[in-house]
Amino acid sequence: MAGKEGLRSLEWKRTGRGTAERTTSLLACLCECRDGCLHSVGSSLVAKLKIVFKELGEIVSFLFCIEFWIMAVLWNFSLLVSYVRLFINWMPQAKRVPQKASAKTARRPVCVVTGATSGLGAAAARALSREGFTVVLVGRSSHLLSKMAAEIQHDNLNASLKAFQVDVSSFQSILEFKNSLHEWLLESKMHLSIQLLINNAGILATSSRLSAEGYDQMMATNYIGIVLLTKLLLPLLRNSPVPSRIVNVSSFTHLNACTTQCDKDTVTGKKFLGMKHYPYARIYEYSKLCVLLFTYELHRQLQVEKCTSVSVNAADPGAVKSKIMRELPTSLSYAAFSFLNLLGLLSLPERGVNSILDAALASPDTSGLYFFGGNGRNIASSLISHNEELASQLWATSTEIFVSAEIAAESSSNSKLERGMTICG
Ligand SMILES: NC(=O)c1ccc[n+]([C@@H]2O[C@H](COP(=O)([O-])OP(=O)(O)OC[C@H]3O[C@@H](n4cnc5c(N)ncnc54)[C@H](OP(=O)(O)O)[C@@H]3O)[C@@H](O)[C@H]2O)c1
Repeated sequence: MAGKEGLRSLEWKRTGRGTAERTTSLLACLCECRDGCLHSVGSSLVAKLKIVFKELGEIVSFLFCIEFWIMAVLWNFSLLVSYVRLFINWMPQAKRVPQKASAKTARRPVCVVTGATSGLGAAAARALSREGFTVVLVGRSSHLLSKMAAEIQHDNLNASLKAFQVDVSSFQSILEFKNSLHEWLLESKMHLSIQLLINNAGILATSSRLSAEGYDQMMATNYIGIVLLTKLLLPLLRNSPVPSRIVNVSSFTHLNACTTQCDKDTVTGKKFLGMKHYPYARIYEYSKLCVLLFTYELHRQLQVEKCTSVSVNAADPGAVKSKIMRELPTSLSYAAFSFLNLLGLLSLPERGVNSILDAALASPDTSGLYFFGGNGRNIASSLISHNEELASQLWATSTEIFVSAEIAAESSSNSKLERGMTICG
């Protein structure tokens, strides 16, 4: 229609016809287009209204759910508590963790970053590639991985990158990743080791879903995946000729965690699956508490072993504007981010990543700390996260999950082998 009108106005300019003639012609043109336009305008309006009503429906159902108010009130409160702790800790004697270790050595150290396709993981991968690491990008979408690798390479021509498609909520996928990583290190004639593992991938799932092994998807991604990946990559970290490090990304929301059982049904999230309303805020907080309990227990075990070559820290990025709230209605996540921004408590991933980088690059003797607030600062996490009895219960349950996943993977590969032999035979 715009094209037609454009042509007509050009014609008028050329022929110099009068105003009355122009008006008649314009009316005729409008009538011509009216029927077609009304139809398309009508259907697009209906489609838009449908979207608006769907979003409104979702907003109302979220607003009437206790989980939403836990997030809106308690999570903001726990974020404030973390900042108060930071302020009290760091006000008088500015005791900072020793300076960042430089990664710019003769041989490029290798760093694995999970959830590297978005938000904090992407920011960490970008920053670590600038620090001189060979960055192994781990993500669940091959398309997003190639896009991210291209973006990092575009910004930093010297970046050394390798991408692997991995679903960190699935043991089989993690196992395949470990094998592919081994192969790649050997093929690239690199030392069979890694120097840094950043367990960053995480989700805030607002509905109940099952992982490949039949666990709750959020527990499988946010906690079980960290345990399985760490256990499988620990030999490569131990094999490093220079000190190596694990960084587990947790969250201030752990301060609200009130589930303190560490039995298998709770840790795998099976306990929550049968509930009428999926307690997503509670599960998220619990998964982040488990991350801390596991981090401190691993630190203690490495100390008992007198292993000084591998260290482990936790990092809390604070509130960061990322895609973490993607399962909430867009207007609610927008409102949440705007509110945090107004209070001055929201960071962009490029700033929020500082606590992860501090935890990753602190001097090798720094272990078992909870980094928060950037500038090398760390604070105390909740009292319960330091409970050694709970941590050893969680360790036992996590080991049981690991062993049963290994047995399941072995029996599935044996049955595949047997089927192959039968076909060949
Ligand atoms: N944002 C915050 O305010 C905040 C605060 C405290 C802690 N954290 C923690 O910080 C970490 C990063 O979150 P973010 O804010 O950067 O969120 P994000 O933008 O949603 O990024 C999450 C990343 O994890 C990946 N991921 C999710 N499930 C996966 C799976 N099964 N396998 C492999 N990768 C998977 C995502 O991949 P796709 O790109 O394919 O989706 C994405 O790359 C999370 O552990 C989160 O809990 C965030």
